[in-house]
Amino acid sequence: MNISIASDHAGFEQKEHLAAYLKERGYEVINRGPDSDDRVDYPDYALAVALDVVNGKSTFGVLLCGTGIGMAISANKVDGIRAANVTTPEFAELARAHNNANIVCLSARFVDEETNRAIVEKFFATSFEGGRHACRVQKIGNIELLSKE
Ligand code: RB5
Repeated sequence: MNISIASDHAGFEQKEHLAAYLKERGYEVINRGPDSDDRVDYPDYALAVALDVVNGKSTFGVLLCGTGIGMAISANKVDGIRAANVTTPEFAELARAHNNANIVCLSARFVDEETNRAIVEKFFATSFEGGRHACRVQKIGNIELLSKE
């Protein structure tokens, strides 16, 4: 499975560790940067990962910043992206099962590395339930069209 990952400066260290961990676990990891913890703007990195996901280069995206909030807001501007800001493995499961989220946004300043690893593993391992959730996710997609009318 291909995974695209990126961060800003606040998430850089955890991003590097998480990318190495995911490679060890057998994932094909596309690291969209940055390459250092120099100050950067998170929307640039959210866009790179979001485009990989909507263009089919990666099944899922992983984004890290201080809170995960800026990354989620940015990634969700791209049509077809459902990015969830997740701080517990339980929320990771629900983001996949109920919302069919395709990008998980992590907090590097408020969530430790072990928890973020558990979040990502749960996110990748959980399938969308469909059923009653399918029409709601469809309606999320409809908002993209309605907002352009
Ligand atoms: C950077 O200081 C911080 O604002 C950023 O990492 C993120 O938390 C934004 O949502």
